[in-house]
Amino acid sequence: MEKKAVYPGSFDPITNGHLDLLERALKIFDRIVIAVAANPGKGPLFTLQERVDLIKDSLKGHPLEDRVEVDTFHGLLVEYVKKAKANAIIRGLRAISDFEYEFQMALMNRKLSTEVETLFLMTGMRYIYISSSIIKEVVMAGGCVNGLVPDPVEKKLAERLGLDKGADSQADVTG
Ligand code: PNS
Repeated sequence: MEKKAVYPGSFDPITNGHLDLLERALKIFDRIVIAVAANPGKGPLFTLQERVDLIKDSLKGHPLEDRVEVDTFHGLLVEYVKKAKANAIIRGLRAISDFEYEFQMALMNRKLSTEVETLFLMTGMRYIYISSSIIKEVVMAGGCVNGLVPDPVEKKLAERLGLDKGADSQADVTG
């Protein structure tokens, strides 16, 4: 039987940290569904459709592209996971600071459904410090995020948020 997991999130926008986690998850599962949450409460920068399109564009030509689906969901995540006929949720852990929120969410999901397990994977060290929020903050302030997000995302962020780039902003932030 095909092993399938759901990788949920806001993906506002997708980063190279998300892609790194996706690749790790595909070492364990045959198929991953990236499930983009409508999350209207969070006031996302990109619309649901834009977030989906950016993920699809970022995966174009990726060697694992065929094993990834991109979908959206509203309401409870566990209900979506059951509907998708998957039995696990993948979440990334970057640092201790992620743990409390992730732990709470995983336990709530377990309370809501005993059929669905949450699996935590560690993001690669190169991306341990990045999040969609910090990426947006840097671009908004005129900084360069090259190497931290897929090319289509970098382009879209520049269109949406980009200010005139000063010389300092060209500094390499990939470390
Ligand atoms: O990328 P994010 O914003 O950390 O993802 C959070 C997300 C979308 C996975 C989470 O908010 C979620 O699952 N929302 C759906 C509503 C739900 O099921 N809540 C109960 C679990 S706490």
